[in-house]
Amino acid sequence: MNKKTVRDINVEGKKVLVRCDFNVPQDESGNITDNRRIVSSLPTIKYLLEKGAKVILCSHLGRPKGEVKKEFSLAPVAKELSKQLNIEVKLATDIVGENAKKLVSEMKNGEVILLENVRFDAREEKNDPEFAKQLADLAQIYVNDAFGTSHRAHASTAGVADYLPAVSGFLIEKELDFMGNALENPARPFVAILGGKKVSDKIGVIMALLEKVDTLIIGGAMAYTFFKAQGYNVGDSICELDKLDLALEIMEKAKQKGVKFMLPIDTKIGKTPDKDTESKTVKYTEIPDGWEGFDIGEETIELYKKELKTAKTIVWNGPLGLFEIDQFATGTNEIAKALAEIDAITIIGGGDSAAAIEKAGLSDKMTHISTGGGASLEFLEGKKLPGIECLENK
Ligand code: 3PG
Repeated sequence: MNKKTVRDINVEGKKVLVRCDFNVPQDESGNITDNRRIVSSLPTIKYLLEKGAKVILCSHLGRPKGEVKKEFSLAPVAKELSKQLNIEVKLATDIVGENAKKLVSEMKNGEVILLENVRFDAREEKNDPEFAKQLADLAQIYVNDAFGTSHRAHASTAGVADYLPAVSGFLIEKELDFMGNALENPARPFVAILGGKKVSDKIGVIMALLEKVDTLIIGGAMAYTFFKAQGYNVGDSICELDKLDLALEIMEKAKQKGVKFMLPIDTKIGKTPDKDTESKTVKYTEIPDGWEGFDIGEETIELYKKELKTAKTIVWNGPLGLFEIDQFATGTNEIAKALAEIDAITIIGGGDSAAAIEKAGLSDKMTHISTGGGASLEFLEGKKLPGIECLENK
């Protein structure tokens, strides 16, 4: 990575504002159900504390749209951080107000505080320069380690870098190293697996990956758009009728580039997207009316597994079926298991694919699981990420 990191700057005795992505899922009672983003931010925080910095953490949680809403408070995150770091992490009751300023002024070296949800202020998402300056005024150095939010040009992810020396934390460095190396210097064969609902959501990443991979494997509901484009009946399956030409264009581009483009050969269909719905497996070309495709079938799983066994680098983004429902999670789970056993570099895009791997209990078997959903997708697309662009070059 060509950006400066916390290693390249003297932080001793300095007030360091660290933007993390603590946007973690919670249950109805406010318990954090997956703390991976918090745990992934610890190496940077611990490093800064060991070097004697005063660490001021900030993040968003959810989409409170500029209003203070209790259910989006970072209080549960402060509690989890205190537990993980084994020191008290005080939560300011505001972001750049009197309480935040008071807590900052009382900080000693090696202490850490957390500001309240930056999205409680409408100026955050507008990347308002005054708000960015107020955030900057709390500190002397800015560290961005919020990889999952680095595709957003907001005040705390980008704007603040106009006012302070700005470097990256270890999480952003790690994410860029793993994903960057996989894209730029892949051990071959390089295979990408793309799932998810819509071709339109993945068009950028499909086009970018067709320039790099040897094989592109398609799963998830977007497969039905490719089948419809070839003239097959897809029953009630999710299908983007306005993207049929695009689907054919993608297949043509794959052919021109010499990329092996793999679509499912069978599918598990159901009457409704419910756990007890009647279901059966049919050939992709034979989906009857009144039925909807929810997963790849057994033959497809075997076909894909065989292809994956030959790979040396695998990038996976998007589940292969409706994995939230057990009877339609087989495709996603079987492919996750296959990845866990393969001797290859395995990179998992964040969001749903990461959740599926987590649910299957296979997280520690992957080379790298990104903490960014939208951010990893934009990175794989080759887009510039504002939260990274704003940092100082080495
Ligand atoms: C995410 O969960 O993808 C990030 O935290 C970004 O959240 P956002 O989509 O609300 O900007």
